[in-house]
Amino acid sequence: MNYLEDFNWRYATKRMNGKPVPAEALNNILESTRLAPTSLGLQPFDVIVVEDAELRRLLSPAIYNQPQVNEGAALIIFAAWKKISPDKVDAYIKNIAVTRNTTVVALEGFKNMILDSISGKSDDQVFQWNARQSYIALGYAIAAAAFEKVDSTPMEGFNPAEVNRILGLEEKGLSAVSILAIGYRDEEKDYLANAPKVRRPAESFFTIYENEPVA
Ligand SMILES: Cc1cc2nc3c(=O)[nH]c(=O)nc-3n(C[C@H](O)[C@H](O)[C@H](O)COP(=O)(O)O)c2cc1C
Repeated sequence: MNYLEDFNWRYATKRMNGKPVPAEALNNILESTRLAPTSLGLQPFDVIVVEDAELRRLLSPAIYNQPQVNEGAALIIFAAWKKISPDKVDAYIKNIAVTRNTTVVALEGFKNMILDSISGKSDDQVFQWNARQSYIALGYAIAAAAFEKVDSTPMEGFNPAEVNRILGLEEKGLSAVSILAIGYRDEEKDYLANAPKVRRPAESFFTIYENEPVA
């Protein structure tokens, strides 16, 4: 049950205290995003890590001056692919072939299934699909940070066009979708540090169809 304690411990931290996050904890949080599941296994987003304090200062107005940007230790930016090009699909198929000791030819059917599932979608639909995959990785990172006793703030409160411009993401076929600030809470300045969690009651949140008792 320890992980539920960690999930109760974590909260979307509003003020952080400037302490650095140890490299091992940061690496573990990042690795959790790489291990997150994605539809068809495509991982159609990049994860950009900004520890550089100067670059975070530059990004701050684009993230509406939310204090965690500069008071935290790093920003983890989830940037979805704007398209899924045939090159990306080829690279994925090759990766499977090498990793699982099989051949590209044996994976032809799977490759065509991927191409088919993209071909019926508009560029925007593909981007939205990719963005949804990135949120699973965001969730993994939030959970991993809690396990590491590192505070974090998921953020959609930013101007993607500005973040894209500063980091040159459009040129790379990417667009920022969400940002996770990580660091350590400043209990004195953060009015939410000791606030109880607000959640819908379990009775209305869950609908559970139980097994019929065996006669
Ligand atoms: C996708 C997403 C975007 C969010 N954007 C922001 C944000 O820009 N700034 C902020 O301070 N909190 C942001 N939050 C935090 C939520 O307000 C917070 O998670 C929610 O109120 C539940 O509280 P808790 O996380 O402290 O338990 C965001 C949360 C999520 C999941």
